[in-house]
Amino acid sequence: MALRTIIKIPDPLLKTVSTPVDKVDADVLALLDDMLETMYAAPGIGLAAVQIAEAKRLVVIDVVRDDEPKQPMYFINPEVVWTSEETAIYEEGCLSIPDIYEEVERPAECRVRYLDREGTAQEIECSGILATCILHEIDHLNGVLFIDHISRLKRERIQKKFAKAKKLEGAD
Ligand code: NI
Repeated sequence: MALRTIIKIPDPLLKTVSTPVDKVDADVLALLDDMLETMYAAPGIGLAAVQIAEAKRLVVIDVVRDDEPKQPMYFINPEVVWTSEETAIYEEGCLSIPDIYEEVERPAECRVRYLDREGTAQEIECSGILATCILHEIDHLNGVLFIDHISRLKRERIQKKFAKAKKLEGAD
């Protein structure tokens, strides 16, 4: 396992659509392990492969609290097959948009189809923080960020802040 660098906005890769994995092989499993290690170290509760500059449809999640045993979840080629009409609002953040937190409204429940680490098709019913987290991560696979769900005014303010930070980095 290896710690990987998490890319930040305005990296254009974060706006790209990730490619499905056609075979769950050793490379894919190694990538999932790197993603999990990187997510825990950040720390965060979810990470999409594109956030470590690998535009593949892979997601890792662990939403259990810090004082409870770790419960890593791996999703290969996840696909939302159902969402509830009922919505929920959570304050979201993103490892690719550090230190920014905004309320986002999403479906309160969803069902997701995916391949597990053995390459077997699975389906999971999600609610609460897991529903929000998995919808946030699957958005990443489609080049969508949580700030795309907030007001344009707020989004542009955040984008400007990160564009400026990048310019300053480039200056030294
Ligand atoms: Ni994110």
